[in-house]
Amino acid sequence: MTSIAVCPGSFDPVTLGHLDIISRGAKVFDKVIVAVLNNRNKQPLFTVEERIELLRQTTADLPNVEVDHFNGLLIDYVKQKNASAIIKGLRAVSDFEYELQMASINRKLDEEVETFFMMTNNNYSYLSSSIVKEIAKYQAPVSDLVPEIVEGALRKKFAFSNE
Ligand code: PNS
Repeated sequence: MTSIAVCPGSFDPVTLGHLDIISRGAKVFDKVIVAVLNNRNKQPLFTVEERIELLRQTTADLPNVEVDHFNGLLIDYVKQKNASAIIKGLRAVSDFEYELQMASINRKLDEEVETFFMMTNNNYSYLSSSIVKEIAKYQAPVSDLVPEIVEGALRKKFAFSNE
């Protein structure tokens, strides 16, 4: 049986921390579907299409990784894709409470789907898309935090928004 895992998130934009989790997940599962949440309540910096494109380019070297988007409940998307697992990264204790709540509600909605947590690489334990955006907004370098192509996309966004 093929093991399929979904790695969900906003990915606004994808960081080296996300890519660490995605690539490690891809070693364990036959297929990893990176699923970008199309959340209309949030005000993202990048459109869903832009976030997908950045993810596609930065995971191009991982043949068993697919990039997609979803609306609504994660668990419905996971079932629709015939996946049996959700993979997430845990950075610090501060992530734990929220992730415990999400994993518990997802298990209540479907107990066949397991959530797997990976400890983030220590180099990225402080890293988040929000922090990257905050730094890039003020033109400080983010080359240690995101792939080059994402850095370029951030520069372009903020160059236009600061005009
Ligand atoms: O990168 P993020 O914003 O921390 O990702 C959060 C995400 C997308 C994993 C989470 O918001 C999610 O699963 N949303 C879909 C809605 C849902 O299924 N909610 C029920 C579980 S609380």
